[in-house]
Amino acid sequence: MALSFFTKNRKAIQARCRDDYATKMRLKYAPYYHAMEAQNGTTVRLHGKETIMLSSNDYLGLSFHPKVIEAGRAAMLKWGTSTTGARTSNGSRAYHVELEEKLAAFLGREACHIHVAGYLSCLSSVASFAQKGDVVLADKNIHSCLWDGIRLSMATVERFSHNSPDDLREVLGAVNQDATKMLVIEGVYSMEGHIARLPELSEIAEEHGCFTVLDDAHGFGVLGRQGRGTVDHFGLNDKVDVICGSLSKSLASTGGFVAASREIIEYLRTHSKQTIFSAAISPSQAACAQASLEIMQAEPQHLEKLWANTKKYRAMLKSLGLDTWESETPAVPIVLGSKERVYPFWKALLDKGVFTVMSIAPAVPAGKDLIRTAISAMHTEEQLEKIADAMAYAMKKL
Ligand SMILES: Cc1ncc(COP(=O)(O)O)c(C=O)c1O
Repeated sequence: MALSFFTKNRKAIQARCRDDYATKMRLKYAPYYHAMEAQNGTTVRLHGKETIMLSSNDYLGLSFHPKVIEAGRAAMLKWGTSTTGARTSNGSRAYHVELEEKLAAFLGREACHIHVAGYLSCLSSVASFAQKGDVVLADKNIHSCLWDGIRLSMATVERFSHNSPDDLREVLGAVNQDATKMLVIEGVYSMEGHIARLPELSEIAEEHGCFTVLDDAHGFGVLGRQGRGTVDHFGLNDKVDVICGSLSKSLASTGGFVAASREIIEYLRTHSKQTIFSAAISPSQAACAQASLEIMQAEPQHLEKLWANTKKYRAMLKSLGLDTWESETPAVPIVLGSKERVYPFWKALLDKGVFTVMSIAPAVPAGKDLIRTAISAMHTEEQLEKIADAMAYAMKKL
């Protein structure tokens, strides 16, 4: 009896996987999970054809920097391939502490903790500190990892309109004033390319005693002095309690970080399940991130080139009349409004040798279906010209 119960359930889940509509559509149109056959900077080979990568998050273009490659290689020779354990137990190494100290100092914080993924860092930046009974004020457009953190925290969530201080004030006015409150925002919104209206948002948060968590996965390396990020860009270091982010974008590695005061980071190390029960980042991951961090401070040309490329690219899109959702950063969406328009546009770009990513509702708000593009310091003049031609061609397919 018991056995047949389990068999039935297993089969029900097998049927769910087999019959899933979203998976069938994904496999039919194959817009995602493209495996590039080779890469050299912003050029990838896809289906045997040289293609320009226009949607990576390698903003500073450091993933092929000789010093970053050499640092990763040397770390692996010295420390092996993996820590094979959590920081709490057997996985902690001197190089973790060194990277954490360097990141903390760069961000003007007392302490930092690194994880194997930005997803874990940002999720735990919410889940470790908010609890049942607390109220989390969340910008409607935050990343999935922050929503997961909110869900795990069991706190009550109140959403406010994207990047709207007025709406935040209104929503805050209606919540229990005695509740413990947390504000969760991004520094630069990954899809929209918008910069958080931090001066106004943080002022309101201060008035209401909100603990503020800012995910700067797309602001780090891009904004602020030497790429210190959104908080530095506005000079508001004392207004944000936790800055979290990713090592997989400007830092050209994989992993994530949480930076804050020492007592906040030590609390995270005591209570965050993602910190306690997940393996520490590998030697080469840490070394590549640390080398990139050093390059950000020693070689300003990458940040300068990133912004020069971004300005050219945005001007080109504007001259074609494309809607970039008022992006202010190198993450530039091309809003087309429906999946019926997004697919042919994306396909036309690919046919012309430009790789981008489609993002359709519910991943973006209804009516904002878009192509996500992102500029890198590594894009060349010639590539920008090819991209312009491809955009003009794709527009004719709408
Ligand atoms: C805003 C934001 N936060 C967190 C993450 C997660 O970072 P990672 O890819 O390093 O896990 C991403 C990744 O896309 C992101 O866009």
